[in-house]
Amino acid sequence: MDVARNDAPAAPPLTELKHKHLLGIADLSAEEIVLILDTAEAMKEVGRRTIKKVPTLRGRTVINLFFEPSTRTRTSFEIAEKRLSADTLNVAIASSSVVKGETLVDTAMNLEAMSPSMIVLRHASSGACHLLSRICKAAIVNAGDGMHEHPTQALLDAFTIRERKGKLKGLKVAIVGDLLHSRVLRSNVLLLTKLGAEVWVCAPATLIPVGMQQMGVRVTTNVDEAVEGADVIMMLRMQLERMQGGYFPSLREYFTTFGMTEARVKRAKPDAIIMHPGPINRGVEIASEVADGSASVILDQVANGVAVRMAVLYLLAGGTEHETVA
Ligand code: CP
Repeated sequence: MDVARNDAPAAPPLTELKHKHLLGIADLSAEEIVLILDTAEAMKEVGRRTIKKVPTLRGRTVINLFFEPSTRTRTSFEIAEKRLSADTLNVAIASSSVVKGETLVDTAMNLEAMSPSMIVLRHASSGACHLLSRICKAAIVNAGDGMHEHPTQALLDAFTIRERKGKLKGLKVAIVGDLLHSRVLRSNVLLLTKLGAEVWVCAPATLIPVGMQQMGVRVTTNVDEAVEGADVIMMLRMQLERMQGGYFPSLREYFTTFGMTEARVKRAKPDAIIMHPGPINRGVEIASEVADGSASVILDQVANGVAVRMAVLYLLAGGTEHETVA
């Protein structure tokens, strides 16, 4: 089966991205998403080699600028950059001049003066990447902006689903958790609907963003209904750091009503997979038995993040196929 092309339309496959930056899934066509996923398959092969390095980005400088905490995204971008032979550096915000009051724009302009090829940005403000894309010559890669988008997370999620299921089209994907504060939700809904999945989202009514139905998804507050017959269950973290009010009575009550337990997973298809972008709140949105169970692909998601981010960096750099495997 030609898994790589399973979701692609009949037109000739693309060989490059249309935009200079990766700001969000909203800007990508279905064909561009498939191009990134296909390229990530080649990059995953590099990760299986003894010497996990290709010269594709030799001589290019990539700056990782993370204004919010991160374990998976920051480290996998750095590994991806190193595997592509880029000169990579991480700006430690806590010891940078940001703590003296320097603005995002001034920080970016000063980094830009040192001629990086790309800046990978995570920021608490939605639209921060769009702002930098308008003032920087470097390609901007969105590593999560506020509650807006986290495009590389959705891409690695799609890669993981396609790897396990052979396709995305027609799959029932149930996304359960804190929808209101989740950039992962937004990017995943945009991507999965573009590639023809049937997406259900589920949360307490207080955590369902306005306008969800208009995004082409089924919305429910009944987790059993969301999970019934699902091919994929994607759990989202309770983002307590972004909550100021009482969105639900208690964490214990949330787990009882919405938490993913082994009993609830039994409602899904027998071969359903369990996903979570991390970090996990064990016993809040997901039981440990489910997070660590045989259906869980949570660590596969993390592993695939490296290949997908290599693909994004490679394509944004305008690479060619022969450079990928040299
Ligand atoms: N999934 C994700 O973005 O994790 P980090 O916050 O650890 O990067």
